[in-house]
Amino acid sequence: MLVEEFIPNTPIKKIDAGSVGYTSPSNIALVKYWGKKPHQIPANPSISFTLNHCKTETVLEFSPKNSDDFSFEVYLDGKKASDFRPKIKQFFERILPYASYVKDFHFDIKTSNTFPHSSGIASSASGMSALAMCIVALEELMYSNVDTDFLKRKASFLARLGSGSACRSIEGGLVVWGVHPNIFGSSDLEGMQYPYEVHDVFKTYQDAILLVDKGEKQVSSSVGHNLMHNHPYAQSRFEQAHTHLNQLIPILKSGDMNGFITIVEKEALTLHAMMMSSDPYFILLKPNTLEIINLIWTYRKNTNIPVCFTLDAGANVHVLYPKEYAQKVELFIQHELSVYCQNKQYILDNVGNGAKRIKN
Ligand code: PMV
Repeated sequence: MLVEEFIPNTPIKKIDAGSVGYTSPSNIALVKYWGKKPHQIPANPSISFTLNHCKTETVLEFSPKNSDDFSFEVYLDGKKASDFRPKIKQFFERILPYASYVKDFHFDIKTSNTFPHSSGIASSASGMSALAMCIVALEELMYSNVDTDFLKRKASFLARLGSGSACRSIEGGLVVWGVHPNIFGSSDLEGMQYPYEVHDVFKTYQDAILLVDKGEKQVSSSVGHNLMHNHPYAQSRFEQAHTHLNQLIPILKSGDMNGFITIVEKEALTLHAMMMSSDPYFILLKPNTLEIINLIWTYRKNTNIPVCFTLDAGANVHVLYPKEYAQKVELFIQHELSVYCQNKQYILDNVGNGAKRIKN
């Protein structure tokens, strides 16, 4: 694996204090990543839609320093957020071989999310990808002749070390992470935009996130990933993910809605089936998650509208549908599904363009 290409080897330019800022979105996996090897290497390839509205905005203020330790402070919505320190320290430790300059600065990391607080939406993908973009923007100031494509690749590589799925949030549209023999250029080290033909329907796909349970998850995703070691069904699950990604290639090209729905829903339920059959076993779904799934199935059968669901590692439901049905599906959500959400809350999102620089 070519990790060496991410280690800077040109002379460094001394820079003064300053700041860089990025927004980066969340993403929703269609073929799920669940299970990993050391150094954040996925046990199987995955593919996701990059979202548009659910994002993190991060400004990284930096000032040069001399001590040989990490020095940083984190602020969420303007308030010191010490809870994030361990995760960010671990991120800095992991990226140090590829960004040794992080020890040369004190950082004030000022971050906020566009989605509601504790909505149960994982902010690690958007948060880690925004921070990784800021780090490579800092690198850009110190090294001459680095091209933008390389910096984006490096941001994805670094983001992966913070939170696996974060590497799929740098680019827009459909993003693949993890080696798949039939997806040219796919890598375990970084996410990349899906390289083949995509039907127009998938370029504006809609994702309504129904907030079924906004509480803390009882089992974190890192614990969940680890439970795939020695899981009785792990090998067949990893093979299934390869098969699903393969089957998606012609589906993404032709816009075959039935094919898409079958794979996406099977992936969502398999993810949770893995949790329910691990040792120890656990359930993240709530009764209202199942109510919503059943109502989506009934609505689809009665209307022939190609609406389907997917799930993250939590109880919230992502309702996926083509843009041309947005009005009808959103009325259905408002009238029939929102009662199963906490405080009737849901977020309307759609496929977006990836990380963006915040202009000063
Ligand atoms: O990136 P992590 O370690 O939080 O894992 C995310 C795993 C899922 O969201 C459940 C699936 C995925 O591929 O995003």
